[in-house]
Amino acid sequence: MLLEIKKYPDLILRKKCDEVKEVTPEIKKLGEDMIETMIMNEPEGMGLSAPQVGKSIRLIAVQTEKEPTIFINPKIIKKSREKEMMEEGCLSFPGLWLEIKRAKGVEVEAIDKNGKIIKTKTEGLQARILQHEIDHLDGILIIDKISLFKRLKIFKKKM
Ligand code: CO
Repeated sequence: MLLEIKKYPDLILRKKCDEVKEVTPEIKKLGEDMIETMIMNEPEGMGLSAPQVGKSIRLIAVQTEKEPTIFINPKIIKKSREKEMMEEGCLSFPGLWLEIKRAKGVEVEAIDKNGKIIKTKTEGLQARILQHEIDHLDGILIIDKISLFKRLKIFKKKM
């Protein structure tokens, strides 16, 4: 089922999300719907977080090299010191692309759709998607990652 994607400045995007206490069938279904919504979006999304579909819980969907998957209660447990600049978009900011600096590699601990604890170590694009989506769970958005000057320029253009 396709879900409606909340766009900035919807206030739910600014809330800190709650931990998922149990992997219920409802959580699994929401995860599947988020994957479908991410893939069917035009342009296709690389990741989507639960607050972006109106649910303030710690659940994200991400594209991986193999197949799209969900991560429940994802946590960054290690970050590379090395950083990288890359252009990023967000389904809650259609048409906006920003150069953002992030750690090049991360190690993430999460619960998978079967309720198992998993650890993934990634670099490059995959690490970037995970950092972006986990930021969403704390109400942090791409516009928070750029300078005030750049932000003013963006909003001036929009008005
Ligand atoms: Co986003």
